[in-house]
Amino acid sequence: MRFLFPMLGLAALAGLALHAAPALAQADAAQGQKLFQQRCTICHSLSAAQKKPTGPHLEKLFGRKAAAVEDFNYSAGMKASNIVWDEKSVTDYLAGPAKLVPGTTMPVGVPQAADREDIVAYLKSLPK
Ligand code: HEC
Repeated sequence: MRFLFPMLGLAALAGLALHAAPALAQADAAQGQKLFQQRCTICHSLSAAQKKPTGPHLEKLFGRKAAAVEDFNYSAGMKASNIVWDEKSVTDYLAGPAKLVPGTTMPVGVPQAADREDIVAYLKSLPK
């Protein structure tokens, strides 16, 4: 019994450290890949060779102009946006798609800042 309390204390400390970790953590591309698979692949592929009617492919996204995928039926808002996708613009788009691009037809964003950072880190890690 004498050892139980210190051990509980240690377990509690370990738990605290785990909880604190996400706030301190750097953007995590591996976690971003998971999130991308859960939240984005339903509409987007990562390859120009794989077309989906639900969303433009995101191959070589960084440095690309918005609405650049031929054959994809973009909104007028996206076509007029004049965005070049970089870390900031992708993050802002995910934070509030219709706020950055009024009239956009992408219906979902990523509410959590840490999740956005992870997804962007993952997309940046892909071949340029
Ligand atoms: C329900 C389908 C859907 C989901 C889910 C979705 N998107 Fe989209 N996304 C779209 C559509 C549709 C567009 C084109 C929007 C427009 O034309 O206004 C788009 C556009 C984009 C663009 C701009 C691409 C370009 O060619 O200019 C990026 C970047 C993007 N989405 C990233 C993401 C990410 C990252 C996720 C996951 C967090 C995601 N999207 C989830 C449908 C979706």
